[in-house]
Amino acid sequence: MDKLAAELNAVIENKPVYRLLSDLGRRMYFPKGIISQSAEARKDAYKYNATIGMAMEDGQTMFIPSMRKLVNGLSASEMFAYAPTAGLPELRQIWMMEMIRKNPSLVKKKVSMPIITSGLTHGLSIVSDLFVGENDDVITPNMFWGNYKLIFNVLHKAKVDTFALFDDNYHFNADAMEETIKKMGKKVVILLNFPNNPTGYSPSTAEQQQIVQALVRQADSGKDMLVICDDSYFGLFFEDIIEHQSIFASLCDAHDNITAVKIDGATKEELVWGFRTGFITYGGKALDDAALSVLEKKTMGSIRSTVSTCSTISQNIILKGMRSITYHQEKAAVVAKIKGRYMQVKKAVQAMPADVPLVAMPFNSGYFMTFVVKKIGAENLRKYLLEHYGIGTISIGDKFLRVAFSSVDINNIHDLFGTIFKAARELGR
Ligand SMILES: Cc1ncc(COP(=O)(O)O)c(C=O)c1O
Repeated sequence: MDKLAAELNAVIENKPVYRLLSDLGRRMYFPKGIISQSAEARKDAYKYNATIGMAMEDGQTMFIPSMRKLVNGLSASEMFAYAPTAGLPELRQIWMMEMIRKNPSLVKKKVSMPIITSGLTHGLSIVSDLFVGENDDVITPNMFWGNYKLIFNVLHKAKVDTFALFDDNYHFNADAMEETIKKMGKKVVILLNFPNNPTGYSPSTAEQQQIVQALVRQADSGKDMLVICDDSYFGLFFEDIIEHQSIFASLCDAHDNITAVKIDGATKEELVWGFRTGFITYGGKALDDAALSVLEKKTMGSIRSTVSTCSTISQNIILKGMRSITYHQEKAAVVAKIKGRYMQVKKAVQAMPADVPLVAMPFNSGYFMTFVVKKIGAENLRKYLLEHYGIGTISIGDKFLRVAFSSVDINNIHDLFGTIFKAARELGR
């Protein structure tokens, strides 16, 4: 093990978070080498700075004019230069401020500065690197984003176990979650995603409290838990009953044995899917500044060893966009537009004729809703919709059909759902 890794580990080895680290997580560190020597040079090399692996001219990065002319409003360096490993400090700061504005209960709580990743998948993958090892237990509701399997099971050989997302009354099944945790070993990784992909479900305030209480009970009973909060679709809440603060805000000071990680980002929240900009934020009752700084360094080590740094132009566009005085207003307009589509979907689903062999699972947020497909097979229905009606949907196994209403114009929602019902009826005949 490198001396720097050992030094980092020494800071946290008496804390529960140390027990959560994977073998790779323990070996990970952020090297001092080029990055810190460059930082020293940026500060003190007043004559020539010959440390940087970039081509410079007159204090700016050099560039290909055909590329430069495509973007106005950014300097050449804001487009082409490397960003720091943990991301642009100003963007990390503004994301933190927004996180607190959107989750006011975080105001007096201690969490790390958000670290910038190359999208949320990258954030999940880093957490998996640092905390998930072979045969570790990762549990998540049975309706989950399919890529979790690649990230946790294929890459890191964890055992991914699921519990029923809903109970018989179609509420979040906190009991099933707790029973599943009980059956696992001492270390458990819990992966929660609200608004959920694929169902479009977010818990109510009461349900969220039940989840937190169940996790605290399990922490009390001696489990070491890492709770990953995948907040990809955060903010797209369309009903008042939903808890509008992330569960991360409750978990980050809930119990010494709970380490919470918030994975969120600009991808869906700021409508910049291809920019590849996400964030990782750590919190935990037993995590003081020194421990948070260790997690930050290990995270930077993971970034440095995979993508090295994340896209600079993306970070600068997001930063400048978020600084605009009309930003909040523009963002509210987008949420209102998607909410309008959601309301149409809700109306269509409520009016679904009884002989349609579909059952809509509860949905109240996010981009999607999912049908349980009875008897006719979800993959059959998907193909039938595509071949006969030119409509694309996603089948999940043979039981579920996911519809992304986020990507369909409001004027077409009625027709879309009417056609899905018609097709399902035709197949059921
Ligand atoms: C639940 C969930 N998590 C993470 C992601 C990944 O987001 P990104 O495109 O930023 O990697 C997605 C994208 O579809 C998602 O649905």
